Amino acid sequence: MVKICCIGAGYVGGPTMAVIALKCPSIEVAVVDISVSRITAWNSDQLPIYEPGLDAVVKQCRGKNLFFSTDVEKHVSEADIVFVSVNTPTKTRGLGAGKAADLTYWESAARMIADVSKSDKIVVEKSTVPVKTAEAIEKILTHNSKGIKFQILSNPEFLAEGTAIQDLFNPDRVLIGGRETPEGDKAIQALKAVYAHWVPQERILTTNLWSAELSKLAANAFLAQRISSVNAMSALCEATGANISEVSYAVGKDTRIGPKFLNASVGFGGSCFQKDILNLVYICECNGLPEVAEYWKQVIKINDYQKNRFVNRVVASMFNTVSNKKIAVLGFAFKKDTGDTRETPAIDVCKGLLGDKARLSIYDPQVTEDQIQRDLTMNKFDWDHPLHLQPMSPTTVKQVSVVWDAYEATKDAHGICILTEWDEFKTLDYKKIYDNMQKPAFIFDGRNIVDMDKLRDIGFIVYSIGKPLDAWLKDMPAVA
Ligand code: UDX
Ligand code: UDX
Ligand code: ADP
Repeated sequence: MVKICCIGAGYVGGPTMAVIALKCPSIEVAVVDISVSRITAWNSDQLPIYEPGLDAVVKQCRGKNLFFSTDVEKHVSEADIVFVSVNTPTKTRGLGAGKAADLTYWESAARMIADVSKSDKIVVEKSTVPVKTAEAIEKILTHNSKGIKFQILSNPEFLAEGTAIQDLFNPDRVLIGGRETPEGDKAIQALKAVYAHWVPQERILTTNLWSAELSKLAANAFLAQRISSVNAMSALCEATGANISEVSYAVGKDTRIGPKFLNASVGFGGSCFQKDILNLVYICECNGLPEVAEYWKQVIKINDYQKNRFVNRVVASMFNTVSNKKIAVLGFAFKKDTGDTRETPAIDVCKGLLGDKARLSIYDPQVTEDQIQRDLTMNKFDWDHPLHLQPMSPTTVKQVSVVWDAYEATKDAHGICILTEWDEFKTLDYKKIYDNMQKPAFIFDGRNIVDMDKLRDIGFIVYSIGKPLDAWLKDMPAVA
C-alpha cells in the first residue's frame, strides 16, 4: 500500500488530501500539522475550514484511509510520498521584506523530513514558492540525508476556495515538475499514477521543476491581471457612462479572451494573488529585470486604487463625511462560499471608512467576530499600500460591531456597502431594509450583485462598480 503524508493541514493540504483519499482507496493518506487545534478540528464535526462539499468527502474517508494527526515525524518517516503544504507568507522583515516569500516553515519542514527519514522518499512541493525553491530544498535534503535518496517534485495546486472540491474532482490540469533524469522521471510517474485514479491522462502535464514552479506564479499573476484590467476599465466606465457589464460581456465574447474572470469588483483578495505577484516582482528584481517587475507591480497598484476609489466614493456621496454615521458592511470574506479573510478587500475598505470615523456594523455569514476584530487591528506590511494604515486604536475598534443578520446590520444605517457576493445578499428584502434606514439611504455595491433599477424604485441611491452613475452621485465631488 502506497503511503502519503501531507505536512500542513490548511486550505490546500486538507481538501487536496481528502480528495486523494476518496479517489484512491488503495492509498493511505495522513495529514499532519503542528497546530493541535487545527488537527483536533479536522477530527471533529466542525472542520477548521468552510468549503462546500468538504464535509461529505472527509466523513467518507476519515478513519479508513484518511487520518489527521499531530504526530508529524511518525507519519513522515512511514510515507513514500511527502507533500509539503505549509504556509509561505510574505516576509515582513529583513531582506526582501514586503515582497519575498518567507520560507521559514518550508525549511524547517525539509530539515525535519531529512531528520526522520529511514527510507527513500518523493518530496512534493505543494505550497506556492519562489522559483528555484525546489533546488534549495533538494540541497537541504541531500546534505542531511544519511544516504537516503530524495526526489523533489513541484506539483502546484490550482484549486480556488469556495469551489475546492469541484476543482479537485475535475481539474483543468494537474502539473508535475521534476528533474530531467531517470530517477526524476520515475518520481514523476509515481505521482502521476496517484492522480491517474481520476484525472484523464491528457490533463496531467509534466515539465521541468522550474517551469512548474513558475507556472503557478504566472497563472495567478495572469488571473489577477485580468481583474485589475477590468477594474481599471470600471473607473473609465463610471467617468464616461459606459457600463462595465456590457463591456466585459462584449470583450469576453472574443474567444481569444474568453468570458471568465472579468467581473469588476471592489478588488481581489485571497491568500494567493497579492502574495504571488509580490513574489514574482521580487524574483524579477533579483534577476535584474526591473521593467518586468514594474509591469506586474501595476496589477497590485490598480487593486489598491480600486479599494481606495470605493472608499472615496462612499464618503464623497454622503456629503463628504461619514463621521459617526452607521454604515452596514455586508460580507467580509474575500469571496463567497468561504470564511477566509486573508487579504480580503473588506479589511482595507473598513479601515478606510474607520479612518473617516464611520461606525461600522458588519455581517458575514461565515466570518466570526473574533476574526474580523483581529483583521481590523492587525498591522500590515507597508509596501506602497496607501490603504494599509497603522493598527487601529482601541477606540476605533469600538466603532465596529459584528452582527449575525443583514437586517440587524442595516437597521438605522445611512449606507450599505456590499463587499462579498454572497448569494443571500441578492434576495434580501430591500424594501424592509430601506424602511429601517436613515434617509437618504445609500447602497454601494462592490460586487455588482443587486438589481439597481429595483433598488432605485424603492428609493435607494445606488452605486455599483463601473455602472452609469445616479444623478446624485454625479453632482458630488469627483472621485479619483
Ligand atoms: C486563486 C486562483 O483562482 C487559484 O487557481 C489558485 O490556486 C489560488 O488563488 P482563490 O484566491 O481561492 O484562488 O479565489 P479566486 O476565485 O481566484 O478569487 C480571488 C479574488 O478575485 C477574490 O477576491 C474574488 O472575489 C476576486 N475576483 C475573481 C474578482 O474580483 N473578479 C473576478 O472576475 C474573479
Ligand atoms: C488586431 C486584433 O486581433 C483584431 O481583433 C482587431 O480588429 C485589429 O487588431 P491584427 O493587428 O490584424 O488584429 O492582428 P493580430 O493577430 O491581433 O496580431 C497583432 C500583433 O500581435 C501581431 O504583430 C502579432 O504577431 C502579435 N501577436 C499576436 C503576438 O506577438 N503573440 C500572440 O500570441 C498573438
Ligand atoms: P494554505 O492556504 O497554503 O493551505 P494554511 O496557512 O491554511 O496555508 O496552512 C498551512 C498549515 O501548515 C498551517 O496549518 C500550519 O500550522 C502548518 N505548518 C506550518 N509549518 C509546519 C511544520 N513545520 N510542520 C507541520 N505543519 C506545519
